[in-house]
Amino acid sequence: MLHPLEELRDSALSYITSAADEHVLEALRVQYLGRNGSIALWGEQMRALSKEERPIVGKLLNEARNAVTAALAETGERLRAANEANALADIDISLPGTVAELGALHPLTQMLDRAIAIFRRMGFALAEGPDVETEWYCFDALNTAPDHPARNEQDTFYLPDGRLLRTHTSTVQIHTMQQAPPPIRVIAPGAAFRRDEVDATHSAQFHQIEGLYVDEDVSVADLKGTLEFFLRELLGPETEIRFRPHYFPFTEPSFEIDVKSKALRGGEKWLELCGSGMVHPAVFEEVNRARGDEAYDAEKYTGFAFGMGMDRLAMILFDIPDIRLFAGNDLRFLRQFA
Ligand code: PHE
Repeated sequence: MLHPLEELRDSALSYITSAADEHVLEALRVQYLGRNGSIALWGEQMRALSKEERPIVGKLLNEARNAVTAALAETGERLRAANEANALADIDISLPGTVAELGALHPLTQMLDRAIAIFRRMGFALAEGPDVETEWYCFDALNTAPDHPARNEQDTFYLPDGRLLRTHTSTVQIHTMQQAPPPIRVIAPGAAFRRDEVDATHSAQFHQIEGLYVDEDVSVADLKGTLEFFLRELLGPETEIRFRPHYFPFTEPSFEIDVKSKALRGGEKWLELCGSGMVHPAVFEEVNRARGDEAYDAEKYTGFAFGMGMDRLAMILFDIPDIRLFAGNDLRFLRQFA
């Protein structure tokens, strides 16, 4: 004759192995192994048993618990596997898969990255400023008179609140000097915006790398050496550069810099690349005023600054015929640089 515990075990096993799904199985687990389940109740009754009976019942109880636990685990596993198989049965494995397309860097980003890497080797840190600016950062602090043509509505995108889209990255010169005293050695790559007539070589948004170097005894020779080294690293050792006198309100003297290199398409022609010059003392003065100190003492410090146009350089280096392609979002164009 079977002991009631053996009967309990057998009926539990038959229910468990025939459970139809995981919910039923969970209910059975609670019914048998739960805190108030049948097996727990038997455990409590043990105390009432005699010394002789206790080990026998204890052994049966253990066997029952182990058998039920094992059956629950096994059935659970079987139900899970069946579920998975059902889910997979709904998938048509003959359909073509989804290809994960890999992205690549935009040609202008590649151009900027190359330039940044060279300047970093010369000890230039990265600086940045916002695209939306006040007139003070874009013009006043840069010694640009209120009637300067660049401030004209026709050249600058003004916002209704009087702010504007920066017309050059020279704004970052001011942000940088406001934030830290000399010495300063930074470059600031970024976008600039002008209301140009848009055509193959003019875009309302273009890109510059601004450079600013302020320390004791910085001279035009440092400017020249820095840019010459940069361009020869970028375009090869035979690259030539040329300084032409120019005018910018925020530098004195000011130069435009042209470059000629075999690496550039159209080889022997000079390419106008860069505005530059020695930081005007009036700029230091305005920065001091904003800082409320005399950190930029024009008697002690000098500096050079430059603003290099990157779009045309990239166009010539990568043989891109139209500046509008940069912002056209055409994958046929972009894939050529992946
Ligand atoms: N900001 C000037 C421009 O965009 C270039 C420049 C930068 C000139 C720094 C001098 C010094 O044309």
